[in-house]
Amino acid sequence: MIVLGIETSCDETAAAVVTDGREILSNLVLSQLTEHRPYGGVVPEIAARSHLDHLDSLIARAMAEAGIGFEQIDGIAATAGPGLIGGVFVGVMTAKAIAAARGLPFLAVNHLEGHALTVRLTDGVDFPYLLLLISGGHCQLLAVEGVGRYRRLGGTLDDAVGEAFDKSAKLLGLPYPGGPSLELAAEDGDPCRFDLPRPMVGRANLDFSFSGLKTAVRHKAHDLGLPLEDPENHDVKDLAAAFQAAVGDVLADRCRRALARFQGDTGRSGPLVVAGGVAANRALRARLTAVAETAETRLVAPPIKLCTDNAAMIAWAGIERLALGLRDPLDFAPRPRWPLEDLAGAA
Ligand code: KG4
Ligand code: ZN
Repeated sequence: MIVLGIETSCDETAAAVVTDGREILSNLVLSQLTEHRPYGGVVPEIAARSHLDHLDSLIARAMAEAGIGFEQIDGIAATAGPGLIGGVFVGVMTAKAIAAARGLPFLAVNHLEGHALTVRLTDGVDFPYLLLLISGGHCQLLAVEGVGRYRRLGGTLDDAVGEAFDKSAKLLGLPYPGGPSLELAAEDGDPCRFDLPRPMVGRANLDFSFSGLKTAVRHKAHDLGLPLEDPENHDVKDLAAAFQAAVGDVLADRCRRALARFQGDTGRSGPLVVAGGVAANRALRARLTAVAETAETRLVAPPIKLCTDNAAMIAWAGIERLALGLRDPLDFAPRPRWPLEDLAGAA
């Protein structure tokens, strides 16, 4: 089975061709970084227009690189939410048009399910597993029991982790996008020089909160006379390292607790999986590896390139759904909000 995947829910225009043999035949990502950089964040209108300008030619390139024609494709999968709705519309309309013209199944993929199932494409991980989903807009712990079957164990009460990275980076004067530049600045910073809070650590629930940490960064940054547009500055590096260490402690504590609950509930030692853009962070991956090992399981994280938004994960989620006989009608309406627990899955 071969599926074309399309991703346009944020600031990456992406197209990929993937097989049910877990082969990625092509995986193209066109970043809009330079278009949004002057504004310090993603501008939805600019994003939607840019997707519209580039998607058709990107799909043609993805097909050419995969070396196949539409007659060899078994389905067209596109992100149908959650995300910036203008961009989602562009991807969904394009996918529906190809599906209608070629008489192919259309698959409306939940972007979060794309992140959630990526490790089945890259590592062939079996259900069930515990998933820490950390991206720009989401921070959740989920028990993944099957395709379309997600049980939420906890989530953030305020900011998502990626959002906390992006906002803290801005307070330090680090270049957009914040996550990767903060990780870089933290590399040779001293994580112990500043004492930052670890919200929720030790609590019995499995929730997160990052707004207090962000506020603490704001106060420290203010005291130090930041933001400075100088990633080499020692105060910037030390505060970045302190922030990343605090996030690491919070994620480690929450995952330790979640693994104990998950293993108790299922009676199985399924792996800990981390996915979403923040999963690209090497320091956090190292922390979570240690947590998994202590709980006598392993951490599975997709390769860095498949942590941030891409269309291979959308094509794969499409393959998983198609294999179960699922498909979506051509009048499926894109959804700006679409929690994973609302997914229609297999029985
Ligand atoms: O999954 P993603 O590409 O888009 C969403 O679905 O949100 O995640 C983007 C988020 C951004 O907040 C970005 O700053 C963060 O992931 N991110 C990182 C790193 N790379 C991307 N955060 C920390 N360290 C990184 N290396
Ligand atoms: Zn994402």
